[in-house]
Amino acid sequence: MRRCDELAACSEEAEAITRPFASDAMRHAQSLVSDWMELAGMTVLHDNVGNVRGRYEGQSAGAPTLLLGSHLDSVRDAGRYDGPLGVMVAIAAVQHLRDASRRLPFALEVIAFADEEGMRFGSTYLGSRALAGSFDRRDLERVDAEGILMRHAIRDFGGDPDHIADDAWKGEALGYIEVHIEQGPVLESRGLPVGVVVGIAGQNRYTLAFTGEAGHAGTVPMALRRDALAAAAEFILAVEAEARAEPQVVATVGKVIAHPGATNVIAGRAGLSLDVRSADRATLLVASRRMLDLAEEIAAGRKLTVEVTSDTRNEAVGCDEGLVRLLSRAIEDAGYTLAPLTSGAGHDGVEMSRIAPIGMLFVRCKGGISHNPAESVTVEDVGVAIDVLNRFLELLARR
Ligand code: GLV
Ligand code: MN
Ligand code: MN
Repeated sequence: MRRCDELAACSEEAEAITRPFASDAMRHAQSLVSDWMELAGMTVLHDNVGNVRGRYEGQSAGAPTLLLGSHLDSVRDAGRYDGPLGVMVAIAAVQHLRDASRRLPFALEVIAFADEEGMRFGSTYLGSRALAGSFDRRDLERVDAEGILMRHAIRDFGGDPDHIADDAWKGEALGYIEVHIEQGPVLESRGLPVGVVVGIAGQNRYTLAFTGEAGHAGTVPMALRRDALAAAAEFILAVEAEARAEPQVVATVGKVIAHPGATNVIAGRAGLSLDVRSADRATLLVASRRMLDLAEEIAAGRKLTVEVTSDTRNEAVGCDEGLVRLLSRAIEDAGYTLAPLTSGAGHDGVEMSRIAPIGMLFVRCKGGISHNPAESVTVEDVGVAIDVLNRFLELLARR
């Protein structure tokens, strides 16, 4: 918990937690995490995309590896646990083994992923994509809000953008396990400290730009306007209505930018983000299509144009049955009732599922609040998560 507090101070904003991919704030966070990994007996490596990896060898050289981890980047004005908690719990579990001079029949590798949220480059899972061998080299040409190319950001951070393929996992992976705050209210409502995750919802993210015509706020008659911001507003409400009508879908417009952005100028252009999610593959496809069609209809009705860019598409992913079973047993052995959960939030496990069976453990968080500075967990619940992870490791060692 103290370590999460220390990481919270690694931010590019004085009054908020904002820790983007390949930033100075991230560099600071990674130097702390490297030290903690070394203290827990791990050898530490920084890969090209910018992940930190700590390795704790097993009983014999050449043993398979269990991967553990979560991400160190954050959203803007974030809480302190989304991501960092999973890295801290994994390090604590390794520390526990080290304190007991215990080696397992498999090696452990704790990965602090470089980018899960995608805040800086509108990407998601850059760190786990590199590990899973699914990093798209075209992403290197993305630019951030300051116009900095991703390839330059990676180079400045110390990695070689032309060798990200070398970051791909080689060897046998027994699985990937991530501990994360629930980011939802189920555990709290059931009075449980932890729960096992059975699957992660799919999500599609888009950028839309409505283009109309800028003009004088005082002289252009209402009927003659081609107001891009009004179109964006209509679209936002249409998205909300669409998602409300389909219980299996959530959809969010979290960002709007109006150009030129002046009180007395009709907006000629409005850019916005769209994030659509569903645990059901077909439902996600249909809902996303429908919302993009609505954008076209709204634009046409107002004599505007709309341009759509697809930023990321991630299908729903199921957790591995065997790992779910072992995590469930660990939870029951620790004395708690089972609560199987589906994650509406995305996680690095989505990419990691390409190369290894995945499992996740959720930790109760206050009010289910996340992506918000009010994120809160209790020290007791985090203690339970560490205990369950230790029990899980021993169960896996005996399997
Ligand atoms: C990651 O936190 C997401 O937006 O799901
Ligand atoms: Mn998040
Ligand atoms: Mn997260």
